[in-house]
Amino acid sequence: MQLQLATQHNIEYYGEIGMGTPAQRFKVLFDTGSANTWLPSSSCPTTDIACQRHKQYNSQQSSSYVANGSKFSLAYGAGMVSGYLSQDTLHLAGAQLSGLTFGEITQHHQTIFESMSFDGIVGLAFAAIAWHETTPFLELLCQQRKIQQCLFSVYLRQQPVAAQAAGELLFGGVNSARYKGELHYVPVSGEGYWQIQLSGVAVRGKLIDNNVAAIVDTGTSLILLPQRVLGSLYAALGARMLGDIYSLSCKLEELPAVAMHLGNFTLTLTPADYVVEIEGLCISIFVPFNYDFWVLGDVFLRRYYTVYDAEGSGRMGFAEAV
Ligand SMILES: *[C@@H]1O[C@H](CO)[C@@H](O)[C@H](O)[C@H]1NC(C)=O
Ligand SMILES: *[C@@H]1O[C@H](CO)[C@@H](O)[C@H](O)[C@H]1NC(C)=O
Repeated sequence: MQLQLATQHNIEYYGEIGMGTPAQRFKVLFDTGSANTWLPSSSCPTTDIACQRHKQYNSQQSSSYVANGSKFSLAYGAGMVSGYLSQDTLHLAGAQLSGLTFGEITQHHQTIFESMSFDGIVGLAFAAIAWHETTPFLELLCQQRKIQQCLFSVYLRQQPVAAQAAGELLFGGVNSARYKGELHYVPVSGEGYWQIQLSGVAVRGKLIDNNVAAIVDTGTSLILLPQRVLGSLYAALGARMLGDIYSLSCKLEELPAVAMHLGNFTLTLTPADYVVEIEGLCISIFVPFNYDFWVLGDVFLRRYYTVYDAEGSGRMGFAEAV
């Protein structure tokens, strides 16, 4: 079951689903960093601009709609949304997933949602971080045996500004044409998230972080890291302070790779992956935040093909994307 992903500015990647009977079409972000699914609701007020600018789900036009009405709110890095729960059939690449509990959004609390290209989100993580007593998308897909193996794979590309073909999401399989070498598998290390344990992160052989968790997140554009690591990372990259910005050399060949170790296997980000040039200034895509784990976002996923295997206790596979 394969879906094509489109992008805007390589910041967001999204694909198409249908909801209800007959299917109402939506663009959604398939988010490995969360487990709930939501769409803008036709019952949102006219004052909610993000809602007005996107496609809205209308339960009255769906014969498979089942009311619930429990209220919820969800917090993301970018902001908060709230609404109420409903249940309906989700259509995806020709398959039908019945009885999915999802959120109808009646309020987007931050204006950032107004400018997003996608209408809603389909969370691909586990029940432990989903709404209480709901079965999230991936688990429902596997329960209803829509795919033979309970896994999916992600392939993302860098594209000029906007592109319809910027990636591929494959449910139930792995596309060996999208990577080179072998897939290296490691166990999922935390409950709820697609989380792995990095044995170390090093620059030119110097450890800058040690035995730390990392979440692989299609819903994050950049790479987030614990605030405590930033000083040693920037020192190792030779960053200089310019006002309140850390700038790096624009001579990429002089910059080191950042190596993330998974036991005997290493994931490497090269300067071409982690440096962006903005108005003549070269800055890195490493962004500090106040948590004690790393978040490997789209920058990482453009370099590595990833497999999310939910069979048994779960594992993740990595190979260099082509
Ligand atoms: C709404 O869904 C939640 C989560 O599945 C469930 O616990 C609750 O009983 C449902 N409420 C109604 C009114 O169906
Ligand atoms: C690397 O480690 C994994 C798991 O610990 C093991 O299965 C694999 O054989 C090792 N590979 C090499 C080349 O040592």
